[in-house]
Amino acid sequence: MEKVKIGILGLGAISGIYLKNLSSVFRNVEILGIYDLIEEKAEKVQEEYHISKVYKNMEEMLDDPEIEIVLNLTRPLEHYHVTKSALLAGKHVYSEKPLATTFEEGKELVALAKQQNLLLGGAPDTFLGAGIQTCKKIIDSGFIGRPIGAAAFMICHGHESWHPAPEFYYQTGGGPMMDMGPYYLTALVNLMGSVKGLTGIAKKNFEHRVITSEPLYGKTIDVEVPTHYNGILDFESGATATVTTTFDVYYTQQARFEIYGTEGTLIVPDPNTFGGPVKLLSGKENEYRNMPLLFDYSENSRGLGLSNMADALRGLDEFRANGDQMLHVLEIMTAFEKSSNAGSYLELATRI
Ligand SMILES: NC(=O)c1ccc[n+]([C@@H]2O[C@H](COP(=O)([O-])OP(=O)(O)OC[C@H]3O[C@@H](n4cnc5c(N)ncnc54)[C@H](O)[C@@H]3O)[C@@H](O)[C@H]2O)c1
Repeated sequence: MEKVKIGILGLGAISGIYLKNLSSVFRNVEILGIYDLIEEKAEKVQEEYHISKVYKNMEEMLDDPEIEIVLNLTRPLEHYHVTKSALLAGKHVYSEKPLATTFEEGKELVALAKQQNLLLGGAPDTFLGAGIQTCKKIIDSGFIGRPIGAAAFMICHGHESWHPAPEFYYQTGGGPMMDMGPYYLTALVNLMGSVKGLTGIAKKNFEHRVITSEPLYGKTIDVEVPTHYNGILDFESGATATVTTTFDVYYTQQARFEIYGTEGTLIVPDPNTFGGPVKLLSGKENEYRNMPLLFDYSENSRGLGLSNMADALRGLDEFRANGDQMLHVLEIMTAFEKSSNAGSYLELATRI
């Protein structure tokens, strides 16, 4: 079958793993063209990956009739504009997370894609990996009984110590919820179903952050967004989950991700990875058991969701990292701050 031709917009830090996997692991796609606002980045990538076309601007890529899917790897604040432009140009879009920086913008994009009869979806695709899929199999097979709760803790001290251009993590569309929440929440909704409401509290504990990575070492970032989130998710199933995402806390021994069932507890692997370990504690035993991974893709397989989208486009599969799921996750993430500001429980409109 003919490969699906894709164009990549944005060639920053995350583009490396997509370029590698889409040119060597996933054989149903071809990277036809690329564009970045910074010309040298595109030239370097073209040389390394022997890519046919470097476009002069975004519009040139969107006008190219050969491009079927646009892969949007720009920064969060740029996602809405880039995705909307691509959809209006008749392209299917796979976007890095978040879908957009507000729920309203996300809703508009999903509605536009449906109206145009185009596929829209995107990151994270880690939930399709061996680790989370094995967890799903274990839960669906009844090993922990009925899921009644979960705990998800993303704790770190931000990205300014390693990312070459970390400002966006502290601007609108950034923060630990919009940045890391998608991994935990996408895994949670896949394992436990839709969230019907939540209560959240969002705080900003530092007004400024100092970059300690190169090349911007010593530069101060003004923090625009909350950087410490706590909340409780209320699932349609009746289960509840405690969720923390923070850029304000140094690493702790806090358990990262667990699902609690009436018959046992499951330790879920880091949802920002594709592999394990997966550990199961049956209520009748005292020890956690390491479970074998039952599915493929335990390595860093970023691009797996896009490859699945390409199969869906050819009618070979169902598209799983789809826009409805991304929108549900975006609604959950943005509801934390809304609930915090309102001081009350918020009901959600979307479901997966
Ligand atoms: N860095 C990571 O480890 C990581 C991991 C997972 C997901 N992501 C996500 O990937 C996205 C990009 O992150 P990053 O770390 O690569 O950022 P980055 O700042 O390193 O790169 C973004 C690139 O997009 C380019 N760009 C911006 N607007 C553009 C436009 N209209 N057309 C073409 N190019 C444009 C910029 O010039 C820049 O090179 C973000 O949504 C982020 O949340 C990043």
